[in-house]
Amino acid sequence: MIKYEIKNTKEYHNNYSKAIENPEVFWAEIAKKNFTWIRPWSQVLDWDFSIPKVSWFEGAQLNITENCIDRHIENNGHKTAILFEPNNPKDPSEAITYNDLYKRINRFANVLKSKGIQKGDRVCIYLPMIPELAISVLACARIGAIHSVVFAGFSANALSTRINDCDCKMVITSDGGYRGAKTIDLKSIVDSALLDCTGVESVLVAKRIHSDPPMVSGRDYWLQPLLDDASIECEATVMDAEDPLFILYTSGSTGKPKGMVHTTAGYMVYSAYTFKNIFQYEPNDIYWCTADIGWITGHSYIVYGPLLNGATTLMFEGVPSYPDYGRFWSIVEKHKVSQFYTAPTAIRALAKEGLELVNRYDLSSLKILGTVGEPINEEAWHWYNDHVGKKKCPIVDTWWQTETGGVMISPIPNSFEGKPTFATLPFIGVQPALMDENGIEIEGNSVEGRLCVKFPWPSMARTIWGNHQRYKDTYFSAYDQKYFTGDGALRDENGHYRITGRVDDVIIVSGHNLGTAPIEDAINEHPMVAESAIVGYPHDIKGSALYGFVTLKNSQDLSDALKIEINQLISKQIGPIAKLDKIQFTTGLPKTRSGKIMRRILRKIAIKDTSNLGDISTLLNPEVVETIMKNSL
Ligand code: WT7
Repeated sequence: MIKYEIKNTKEYHNNYSKAIENPEVFWAEIAKKNFTWIRPWSQVLDWDFSIPKVSWFEGAQLNITENCIDRHIENNGHKTAILFEPNNPKDPSEAITYNDLYKRINRFANVLKSKGIQKGDRVCIYLPMIPELAISVLACARIGAIHSVVFAGFSANALSTRINDCDCKMVITSDGGYRGAKTIDLKSIVDSALLDCTGVESVLVAKRIHSDPPMVSGRDYWLQPLLDDASIECEATVMDAEDPLFILYTSGSTGKPKGMVHTTAGYMVYSAYTFKNIFQYEPNDIYWCTADIGWITGHSYIVYGPLLNGATTLMFEGVPSYPDYGRFWSIVEKHKVSQFYTAPTAIRALAKEGLELVNRYDLSSLKILGTVGEPINEEAWHWYNDHVGKKKCPIVDTWWQTETGGVMISPIPNSFEGKPTFATLPFIGVQPALMDENGIEIEGNSVEGRLCVKFPWPSMARTIWGNHQRYKDTYFSAYDQKYFTGDGALRDENGHYRITGRVDDVIIVSGHNLGTAPIEDAINEHPMVAESAIVGYPHDIKGSALYGFVTLKNSQDLSDALKIEINQLISKQIGPIAKLDKIQFTTGLPKTRSGKIMRRILRKIAIKDTSNLGDISTLLNPEVVETIMKNSL
């Protein structure tokens, strides 16, 4: 059914050229041949990065769930769509066929409607990795409600900020969730978040851990009885190509999280096309991405991309370390996983456990390995290649972002090979550019600069919810007529790209994108704290870890107890993922004369590279640098 495979090097280059020379013809053909449309488009692409405005397939009408499910039913209704592997390996896994999924999504969509949810309403989904998460996402899409999934590791404060930012009318959650040996009490987190959210009218609660949380009458509803009473038919709402499909929050270097808005048609076309080609999905493959659906990786490559291709997508509820560090490999063996997609931080954590566990299981079903989220170091790449892939599985190091909606730079297995630490070549239609400090594009090979994209691709985010100006300022103002990624990159002698990391104040910890500003804001809320600055430093497992320099109002107060309190505050405001590994109390922070904290100096101190701090004589307070160095951790 899918007519868009790239099968060899020649096809990659031919398609790449076609998509650059005539993007509208190229993408129209992909869109027309591979998807179900209610009405065709009148214009393939309309764009101007200076506004910025981007629209793909304008005038077309469709519903993405008809493309994810309905059209697979006739020939593949009995095929497993979602293969659910629970946290506890002793519990049975669950195979949800396309037929089942159709019914479950429609029932859920009817429940949403019965609670007053209409096209365009925002629905917050705060669920663990259980089937209801994927199903609720698709149920929203069925009726044109805009889903805003919030990762269930975020705190009540982080949740309420996200609910209020886009005025969610409903929250979908569960009584709780399992994560390894722990249970997480999600409902009580929702309850405390909702103390600050007046716009939420109803809360649907799935049962997972069978706790007995308090239910607010007239607001909270157990999901199952509602589903039991709902019809298995729900007509798909007709959506315009550019109607929002979902909002997903990502950290910025400053300010509150940004609600990236993705729209329907372009996202559909690009997530499906990249999935098929990067993972070389074949009809009998079992595909597994270990991400959480709370992140973009889960949206595009657990839910939408795989289902659009009629694939079997494995959803794992648990963690790599439970009941032991062999769990991932036992799942690969148990379900004969063909494609395995994970993050460098997980690879490093598993590599650290030695070879006994990875060698205990039969991994011969694996065909392709993927990595995403941060630059993968050479050692981790080789371990993955040698011990997981047994040197026979191509590794796709996929570079992309919440904002890009789909993979932008990655090897394509049958077309060209990966190379350790390189994301390699741009995907079909993607036009990267490296920029110098003066805003001039750097041409040629063996060069390094700031990574931009100079032409629209179908799945790019269209705006930041409620703040188009911020969208323009963040992504389209640094360089004229270009999307700025926030990453640095180099292009080697063969034109292959290696991502060198963020060039802004975003730090990637265990693959999670964290802005320094919100963490500093959280720390500064402590009554004893005067100010703080966060920098990243290399960490064996997490890639980067956080180092906080904290100035107290009264320097007598330094204590380990205070360090714990600071981390508790961060957990409360953002979530445990943002906790600091190192906290150094200082008497002051190095500042420019205009009062800006010189993070550059702190970064060097954190990595213990203080031989060349540059000229510090222009600082407002050069003397603090010496003290900070002396006491560094
Ligand atoms: C940032 C985006 C897209 C899914 C997960 C992260 C970094 C992502 C790679 C990679 C080097 C990578 C970049 C990017 N990043 N993948 N393969 N190699 N760096 O999404 O949270 O929006 O983070 O993650 O710095 O800008 P995100």
